[in-house]
Amino acid sequence: MNRAFSPERRADLLVKQMTLDEKVAMVHGVKPIPVKGYVGYVPPVERLGIPALTLADGRAAVGNGARDITLFPAPIAAASSWDVSLLAEYGRELGQEQWQKGTNVELGPTIDVVRVPEWGRTFESYGEDPYFNSRMAVAEIEAIQSQGPIADANMYVAMQQESNRFKEDSRVDERTLEEIYLPPFAAAVREGHVGTFMCAYVKTNGVYSCENDFLERGVLRQQFGFDGWVMSDWGATHSTIDSALHGLDQEMPDDKFYGASLKAAIEKGEVSTAALDDHVRNILVTMFRQGLFDKKQTGTWASNARRPEHDAFSRYAAEQGTVLLKNDKGILPLAPGTSIAVIGTSGGKTPKALGGGSSNANPPYIVSPFDGIAKRAGSADKVTYADGTDLIAAARDAHNADVTIVFANTAETEGSDRPDLTLPNNQDALIAVVAAAAKKTIVVLNTGGPVLMPWIDKVAGIVEAWYPGQEDGNAIAAVLYGDVNPAAKLPLTFPHTADQIPTPSKEQWPGVDGQSQYSERLNIGYRWYDANNVAPLFPFGFGLSYTTFKVSHLAVSPATADAAQAITVIVDVSNTGSRKGAEVVQVYVGHPPANGEPPHQLRAFAKVELNPGETKTLTLTIDGDSFSIYDESIHRWAHMPGSYEIFAGTSSRDLPLHAAVQEQ
Ligand code: BGC
Repeated sequence: MNRAFSPERRADLLVKQMTLDEKVAMVHGVKPIPVKGYVGYVPPVERLGIPALTLADGRAAVGNGARDITLFPAPIAAASSWDVSLLAEYGRELGQEQWQKGTNVELGPTIDVVRVPEWGRTFESYGEDPYFNSRMAVAEIEAIQSQGPIADANMYVAMQQESNRFKEDSRVDERTLEEIYLPPFAAAVREGHVGTFMCAYVKTNGVYSCENDFLERGVLRQQFGFDGWVMSDWGATHSTIDSALHGLDQEMPDDKFYGASLKAAIEKGEVSTAALDDHVRNILVTMFRQGLFDKKQTGTWASNARRPEHDAFSRYAAEQGTVLLKNDKGILPLAPGTSIAVIGTSGGKTPKALGGGSSNANPPYIVSPFDGIAKRAGSADKVTYADGTDLIAAARDAHNADVTIVFANTAETEGSDRPDLTLPNNQDALIAVVAAAAKKTIVVLNTGGPVLMPWIDKVAGIVEAWYPGQEDGNAIAAVLYGDVNPAAKLPLTFPHTADQIPTPSKEQWPGVDGQSQYSERLNIGYRWYDANNVAPLFPFGFGLSYTTFKVSHLAVSPATADAAQAITVIVDVSNTGSRKGAEVVQVYVGHPPANGEPPHQLRAFAKVELNPGETKTLTLTIDGDSFSIYDESIHRWAHMPGSYEIFAGTSSRDLPLHAAVQEQ
């Protein structure tokens, strides 16, 4: 308990005092959980002053049935702000509520790169780009841990589908793994100083994640220098000896493999005491580092974690995450006095504010879009509501209103992928019927990922509001009426058609004979569309505003750089419209063809607010490692000399400015 000692020294001293039973008890959860709440629990060791570990889910709210919490927008919505300071606030408020609830390990964030657009957990993640996800992950992890709980970055790794998730084997080559799927996890260690990782249900190249030596000991420990602990996803442990020898520190949620069987394996010498000590030490070092031995945590599961500021931030985050995709003839923002027909179940009766599975939560309230719009419209305007189950009634409302707003949704959840990207429950037909009857139609989507839009030419406006959390109706009303000028951008690509996506074959997803072939290799997300020269419906990085912007005067320095040298990018951005607004300037790097990389890849971005007519000069940094590739022949990253192109613009498909950098 001497705080003057380092966490490592304290852990070493403590491990020496522990009996075999105490050590074994440290490396697994217990079921049933003896205290109320939490989804994972490791009992305290009172004799030695080791506190209990209390683990709770929480991607957009404290989960596991907790009451008196705030429901924030889904992570994909928060990430659509492209604002790392927003993600930091998101993490702070989530971490604060967890700590208040007595949680000391928060099971989040989900940082996996989205590969398959149908993936049921897309809404839990940030998007389809490794660099983008890394930035978001670092901001959220640091913020969670600043509030008390240890963050648990998940799911490690190559966990990109729910179909067959307990057995699926992700067949992915080493270069693709290193360049696409591992970077957020590397950043979580090196920059986010994350305390724990959750190893995934799936196998990677034939070996379950939680006993995968290459992933756990090779990549995490040796390559990234991780010294926290790896816990298994709930039921993702498959062995005692293999897991204990190949990197799993802690089994969750119970002791199927790490209880009596681990003790027996140690007594028989099949697993050494030194190996067990390492696992225990990884847990204790992290607990010491995070202050769990030194800080008193007074909150319990029954505590009220809500605060008025959190309601306000939930709304702010939803507004900042709402992406304006189409706005023909300036139909938005809505003019005062407009009569409105709100249509669709998620527009009124059953708002779609959160995703399913371990992200499920008990929000204190959900403002429905109809309530939010009616309140904002005031008494002067007429706002009607029809859930759309009666097509004739919906068409009549639409016909009578100046503007019709159809709310369409998907019910995305952990545990299953969507069968395809079509809106379910005949919502495409509803939109088509309503659009034919309406004077002007706006579609608001409450989805966790992309959907197809066969009706796109029949509607004047489209807004992607994701799963917006408890302030759903207030946030969408603020955007539709222009109280907030939308400034969000898509963190993943929306395709035109089902077969346009990077993973169209069964072999890729959901897999054949239990294997999913990552045969698209580096070309996931926008990389695929660019490499194949096909225009998506809405590209990665795209999002409209009620004003307009222009980027100009790109300059990069130095124009000739050495290995690992960072490049400074200077670019002007101007608000060329008549409203205050914010733009996200995006910088992509194009490798020399010999490197065999996708055409261009995001390597820097910055969001800036501008008054009408205002110009600001932005300075961004491209890290030196942007000019490397993973060389499979030496199993290492290698800096690659050659001529690189730097592109700047406002989406992955709108990059008007180019410059060159010569890497030596
Ligand atoms: C999920 C994890 C979650 C755990 C505990 C698992 O099914 O994959 O993300 O943290 O359950 O609820």
